[in-house]
Amino acid sequence: MMRILFLVVTWCLVVFPKLSHAQDVQRLPDPLLFNNGKKVKSAKDWERRRQEIRETMTREMYGAAPQQPKNMRFEVFDLDKNALGGKATRKQVTIHITEKGRQAKFDLLIYIPNQAKQPVPAIIGLNFIGNQAIHPDPGIKLTTAWVENSRMFPCGADGRATDACRGVNASQWAVDSILARGYALVTLYREEVASDRKAQAFQTGIHPLYPELQQREDNFGTIAAWAWALSRGLDYLETDRDIDAKRVAVFGFSRLGKAALWAGATDRRFAAVLSNESGAGGGKQFRRGVGEDINRLCTAFPHWFARNFAHYRGKDSELPFDQHFVLSLIAPRPVYLATAEDDKNSDPQGEFATARAADAVYRFLGTNGFPDGAFPPLNQPLMGQIGFHIRPGGHDVKMFDWIQILNFSDLHLQK
Ligand code: GCU
Repeated sequence: MMRILFLVVTWCLVVFPKLSHAQDVQRLPDPLLFNNGKKVKSAKDWERRRQEIRETMTREMYGAAPQQPKNMRFEVFDLDKNALGGKATRKQVTIHITEKGRQAKFDLLIYIPNQAKQPVPAIIGLNFIGNQAIHPDPGIKLTTAWVENSRMFPCGADGRATDACRGVNASQWAVDSILARGYALVTLYREEVASDRKAQAFQTGIHPLYPELQQREDNFGTIAAWAWALSRGLDYLETDRDIDAKRVAVFGFSRLGKAALWAGATDRRFAAVLSNESGAGGGKQFRRGVGEDINRLCTAFPHWFARNFAHYRGKDSELPFDQHFVLSLIAPRPVYLATAEDDKNSDPQGEFATARAADAVYRFLGTNGFPDGAFPPLNQPLMGQIGFHIRPGGHDVKMFDWIQILNFSDLHLQK
């Protein structure tokens, strides 16, 4: 009797939790299985499967962005070899795009470290408040696009950037550290590319250049537009002799982290992806059901994704993919997910789960993937081909985040 009882208890304690864990894992779509259920067995298979994943995610979620424009011009309108007290060369470049007679433009702000051996690797990322907000440097052009004017970002009246807006977002951009570590920093303003205000969405920036794409149910949303603009930034960097365009990492925080991940997924020229608290529609898994869900995303930010995505409101578990598929598209290139303890909306555990689930693809492609083990303690980064950390505090980009991001970049991008 006692033996039977012992066996039953053992089964409950040992076997049952394993079975239910296996079911959990099973519920997550497998990037290494084709839609028809066949297994990916070779590198050639993976290329086909990768294409399948890209098509599905484009159609159902992010939307179909335009091809690389044929008519694009780079205007370097500023060059200061003695910027930031001599530490850097500052360049500012307008990217002009013409499509069937319609025009759009947005600016890149570039700092290149003067002390480093050139060409240098670079980190490119979108910013929230305009290029002039990332550093008080008076040489940075004030954006002419709309800027928010809030207590956090006191930028000036009527949505126009004034000198008051210089450096208001500097705490999130570790410009000195980035340059000291030998990286160029390249940034562009989200609002110049595609408006993030609900009422203005799709009406400014690059969207009006492509009205036919806007008619479709897989119309490219604002996140895909931002990702597309990051690729245009890289188009410019490929022409700049001071930059090693083969070593450009794409960075982003929060909604701009979602854009960075999608840019890395869709443009294999990015050598690495650095995402900071990208959360829902970025690094976190929808199926865990923790933090922001699809319904909330589509209500608060209906312009971020294709119209098709709204079909999944309240049906997060019915997506034919989850966000580890984005990491799979980036594989085998290095990707870093920075998270923060109090950023519950972004669900740090959900970002960890994504890294874990993408590990199989990274290993299949011959890298060391994501380091084995449990969810790490605070401030203890995991550094594999996939990297991850959780730090104390809330939704922000802190110096701690930058230090890990730079350490991770050094591992993968410095020669
Ligand atoms: C909101 C949104 C998030 C997003 C964040 C940000 O909180 O719900 O998805 O990441 O804004 O961009 O700061």
